[in-house]
Amino acid sequence: MRTIESIHQMQIWSDAERRATKRIALVPTMGFLHQGHLSLVREGRRRGDRLVVSIFVNPTQFGPREDLAAYPRDFERDQRLLEKERVDVLFHPTSAAMYPEGYETYVDLERLSSLLCGAFRPGHFRGVATVLVKLFNIVQPHVVIFGAKDYQQLQTARRMVQDLNFDIDVIGHPTVREEDGLAMSSRNAYLNEEERRAALSLYRSLKNAESLVRSGEKQSRRIIDAVRVEIEKEPLARLEYARVCHPESLDEVEEIEGEAVLALAVWVGKARLIDNTLLKC
Ligand code: PAJ
Repeated sequence: MRTIESIHQMQIWSDAERRATKRIALVPTMGFLHQGHLSLVREGRRRGDRLVVSIFVNPTQFGPREDLAAYPRDFERDQRLLEKERVDVLFHPTSAAMYPEGYETYVDLERLSSLLCGAFRPGHFRGVATVLVKLFNIVQPHVVIFGAKDYQQLQTARRMVQDLNFDIDVIGHPTVREEDGLAMSSRNAYLNEEERRAALSLYRSLKNAESLVRSGEKQSRRIIDAVRVEIEKEPLARLEYARVCHPESLDEVEEIEGEAVLALAVWVGKARLIDNTLLKC
């Protein structure tokens, strides 16, 4: 595995691979890798002749009061894990190279950026969309893999690729969970033992909602009320939002027809955790 820091070197590598008609898969990450990331990497390995994983803690997607400085990092461990997965290139640019003095170009999705997490994290999806466009231009992938855990991010990537005519397949990969159901996340590292137990309320509330829908409930309001009750049972958990929305537009729906996504964000201690599930009637 090659580790490339230079944007220019990355472009030269990708140009050569594309000329050799190799299909390049990209898995963008912010590092501190867990099994969720690694299952995306394996998906990328299956889908591409060449596999690039990027590790870049993107400053533009963090708000001024968010956890950029505290975001967990362990580059050497990540490097070892990716080596074992037969990754071809680990792309690891610096912030100074990605956003040099005078940087001023951003990509924003007018509607999708403002919904769900976007309503509570202004500027977050603008930062995500911007860094993704930059990574797409640098790595020039044919296929990019995203986790369904960050459902709004996945839809943002899909919409942006379509709107800006990137010739890229966007693949959504199912959420990987701990044995007890907690969605894996780098931010789980913030949780102490007690908070870790409280964090299970997210999964419980999703499972509860699924069984409500199975027993015939279609009204979003009742499903959301049940989520709120479940989260409020946990004194250490604070519900930021729970919404039932259309799986593509992410517009809220009052009643489920066919499929809808239940998405939620919950604060447990210093960690802001998100999760979602697809509800089917
Ligand atoms: P990060 O949080 O490191 O996540 C990188 C990728 O791993 C994302 O596509 C995310 O959805 C996926 N992922 C995280 N936890 C997962 C889990 N439990 N199961 C399956 N996939 C999981 O998301 C980002 O980084 C950044 O916003 C990024 C896209 C890299 C742009 O900066």
